[in-house]
Amino acid sequence: YHLHAAGRLNDDLQFVAVGRRPWDDAQWRETLVEAVTAHGGPDVVPAQLDSFAARFEYLRGDLQDDKTYSDLFEVISRPRMGTCENVVFYLSIRPEDFLTVVRGLDGAGLNKGLSRHRIVVEKPFGSDLESARQLNRELHAHFDEDQVYRIDHYLGKETVQNLMVFRLANTLIEPLWNRNYIDHVQITAAETLGIGTRGGYFDTAGTLRDMVQNHLMQLLAVTAMEPPATLSADDRRDEKVKVLRSMRAIPADDVANHAVRGQYTAGTIGGEAVPGYLEEPGISPGSRTETYVAGRFFIDNWRWRDVPFYVRTGKRLAEGFTLVAIRFRHPPQQLFHSTPLADLPSNWVTLSLQPEECMQVHLFAKQPGLGLDARPVILNTRFRGEDERRRDAYETLLLDVIEGDNGQFIRFDEVEEAWRVVAPVLDAWGGDRVPLATYAAGSWGPAEADALMGGVGAHIWRNRAT
Ligand code: BG6
Repeated sequence: YHLHAAGRLNDDLQFVAVGRRPWDDAQWRETLVEAVTAHGGPDVVPAQLDSFAARFEYLRGDLQDDKTYSDLFEVISRPRMGTCENVVFYLSIRPEDFLTVVRGLDGAGLNKGLSRHRIVVEKPFGSDLESARQLNRELHAHFDEDQVYRIDHYLGKETVQNLMVFRLANTLIEPLWNRNYIDHVQITAAETLGIGTRGGYFDTAGTLRDMVQNHLMQLLAVTAMEPPATLSADDRRDEKVKVLRSMRAIPADDVANHAVRGQYTAGTIGGEAVPGYLEEPGISPGSRTETYVAGRFFIDNWRWRDVPFYVRTGKRLAEGFTLVAIRFRHPPQQLFHSTPLADLPSNWVTLSLQPEECMQVHLFAKQPGLGLDARPVILNTRFRGEDERRRDAYETLLLDVIEGDNGQFIRFDEVEEAWRVVAPVLDAWGGDRVPLATYAAGSWGPAEADALMGGVGAHIWRNRAT
């Protein structure tokens, strides 16, 4: 709707919604209007919404039935759709139906040879390295790689896109962005939400597959990548793959010292009592599925060797925020050793994805007055003005697919390398060779996660949203 209202959608662009419900176009459009009104924010204009809804029609059909695909072919071929050289198939479906649809589209002649037809695939792409490869082989039997758009909505988030601009458009930042100045990096995606009604899916996936292999590995790669040769899709993706390929393999017999898994028990969030994971609907009794992951990773390249990248994410945590936090080293010489400045913590640069969208540089400055006391000062680059609307990540990504730009989508080698990175952890947890910690809903996760940061000069998780 926002793209439509902003005039970014070509007048000829039409949508066909495919589903099993016995609806007609009018019922579908009514549902659409209700949903956009409820979620589109205060600036939804009824006249615009009507013209948006008029772009849609509804096709009733079952994904398992070949007729659905021949019907779809007919709908798309109708003159109303013009010559229709460009079709995007958006597979917002259960992962297990994915290949059925791909084959169905092929059966109806809706794929290869039509090079401008594209297919959007939601995560999870496979459930481990082998199944992802298998899925990719099958997919490539029906669609060429440049027709495939593997979506990871984190790449559409404003701060993730801004991370590149922040690093590469500012001479101040890039020279410091390496092991000489950076002590460690923390990437946190904390959620207060539980698993809601997604128990069936979540219980077979778990947080490592649901969040870490995709979203957090992408965040890590964008944070750590080298400047690309150009901004072309492949140059950017080449650099991300290099980061993932350089990640140090976690030894199969030492997983417990690199990754912690946890599951929430009953607790309180925002003053409200919430059930534990095992009491949620759709969860198998005694499930060992993790709802929390913390891991310590290393990137063995010139820029990052021996700088820990701590990554954590969990459901039902104390606060909801997503943050990339970079801690800098202490100054080499403690000139201020006999003053209160000697005990100052070091600088941070924080990049907040949500709820705030901002970048902050945490510095120290002298406190005005007679003594040599310091106080923190924060340079806050809140990059969205009050009058600028917050954009949903999908908004950018949908426009990219429509326009045929796959730069913010995941290439298969990225998927493959990310599965490779987490494979030893998946194996150890799958075989139940490592303990499953618990944590109370509303807490900051299992205490075991602190131990990952332990040792001399221990680091501490940053439990702050900015
Ligand atoms: C999804 C996961 O991909 O990302 C969810 O399946 C998770 O479990 C969500 O809640 C988080 O996305 P966001 O944009 O709210 O950080």
